[in-house]
Amino acid sequence: MASITLTDLTKRFDDVTAVDGIDLSVSDGEFLVIVGPSGCGKSTLLRCLAGLESPTDGTIRLGDEDVTAREPHERDVAMVFQNYALYPHMTAERNMTFGMGSATSFSSAEIDRRVAEAADVLDIADLLDRKPAALSGGERQRVALGRAIVRDPAVFLMDEPLSNLDAKLRVRMRTELARLHEDLGTTTVYVTHDQTEAMTLGERVVVMRDGQVQQVAPPQRLYDSPANRFVAEFIGDPAMNMLEVELEGTPGGPIARHGAFELSLPQASELDDYAGRAVLGFRPEDVSIVDRGTGPERGSTGPIEATITVTEPLGDTLLLHCRAGGDEFHVQTDPRADRDAGDAVTLTVDETRLHLFDPETGAAIYHSDREHCRPEASVTR
Ligand SMILES: Nc1ncnc2c1ncn2[C@@H]1O[C@H](COP(=O)(O)OP(=O)(O)O)[C@@H](O)[C@H]1O
Ligand SMILES: [Mg+2]
Repeated sequence: MASITLTDLTKRFDDVTAVDGIDLSVSDGEFLVIVGPSGCGKSTLLRCLAGLESPTDGTIRLGDEDVTAREPHERDVAMVFQNYALYPHMTAERNMTFGMGSATSFSSAEIDRRVAEAADVLDIADLLDRKPAALSGGERQRVALGRAIVRDPAVFLMDEPLSNLDAKLRVRMRTELARLHEDLGTTTVYVTHDQTEAMTLGERVVVMRDGQVQQVAPPQRLYDSPANRFVAEFIGDPAMNMLEVELEGTPGGPIARHGAFELSLPQASELDDYAGRAVLGFRPEDVSIVDRGTGPERGSTGPIEATITVTEPLGDTLLLHCRAGGDEFHVQTDPRADRDAGDAVTLTVDETRLHLFDPETGAAIYHSDREHCRPEASVTR
C-alpha cells in the first residue's frame, strides 16, 4: 500500500515554522498537488516526506508503516527536483541508474530492463549515451524523471519539476506527466507555486499558506467554493474580485449593499443570522455587460453602473478594469467588443456565482452555488 498519512506534521527552523501542524492523507495511486506562494513550506513538507528533513513534531506513515525516523533510502520514495540534480560527468543512463546496484538488490539485467522501459515511456531511448551538457532542459528533466521511474518506488515526490522549462515545454511536459501517472498509477505528491499546474494535474489540490493547509479539494471545487479569501484569490487568473459590502435582510431576500450598487443574493440558511459587513467576491468571467436601462436578466443580479479605466486585450478575451463607487474590479468580456477607457458600462453578475467572506477572518460565509455551499469538511483551522 502506497498511501501516505501525515499527522500534525511540524518542521521548525530556528525562528521559522515552515510546516505548521499539517494533517493530510494521500490515497494509494492518487496524484495530489500542493500549491501555495513561495515560502509557504511546500519544499520543506516534501523534504520531510523524502526523509531529507526530520520533522520537529508529528508522524509520517507510508501505508501502515511509521517512517518518520527512517533514512531516505529506507523509504520507498523517489524525488524529482526543480533543478534536475544530474551528475554532469555521467551519461543519461548512468544518471538514471547510479546507486541502484549497490543500495538495492537489483540485478544488472533487471536494471537494464527498467532503463529500457523508462526510456521508452519518456521517449529518451536515443539520448541515453549523452551527458547532461548535451541535453536540452526538457530532456534533462526527462532523465531526472527517468531516474525516479527506474526505481519503481511506492511514491513519487516532485518539487516544481517543470519550473525551469520555458512556457511551451512546460505545457507539454504537464500533459506527459498526467499521461505517465495514468500509465504507472504511482502515488504522487507534486509541489508547485503555479495554480494552473495545480488545477490541471491534481486529482485533489492542497492550498498552503504560512505552513498551514487552507483547503484540500478537487480543483473545480476549490475554484467554485473556496474555503476562504486566500484560496479564492490564489486560484484563478485574473483573481476573484473582492468588494466590501453591507449584508442586509429585506422582505425580498438578502442583499449585498455596496456604496454604488446592490446585488440580491439567493436565499440561504447561512445568511439568516448574518447582517453587517462582509466581503463580496465574484469572478471577472461571471460579469456581463448589458444595455443601459434594461434590468438584470433571469439568473443575474445588478445593475452595477461602472466606468472602464483600462482595457487589456488578451486575444481570447478582453479584460476590463472597471470602477464603481471608488472600488476597482475586473470584468472579462468579448475581445471583439468595442470598449474604451472612459466608457460607462452597465453590468450584471451571475447570481449563482457570488461568494461572501468574513471581513476579519476571511473565512467563506456563503457561496450562492447551492450545490457547493455546504461547509467544507476538509478545511483545517
Ligand atoms: N534549511 C532551512 N533553514 C532555515 N529556514 C529554512 C530552511 N529551509 C526552509 N526555510 C524557511 O522555511 C520557509 C518555507 O520554505 P520552503 O519550504 O522552501 O517554501 P516553498 O517551497 O513553499 O517556497 C521559508 O520561510 C524558508 O525561508
Ligand atoms: Mg520550494
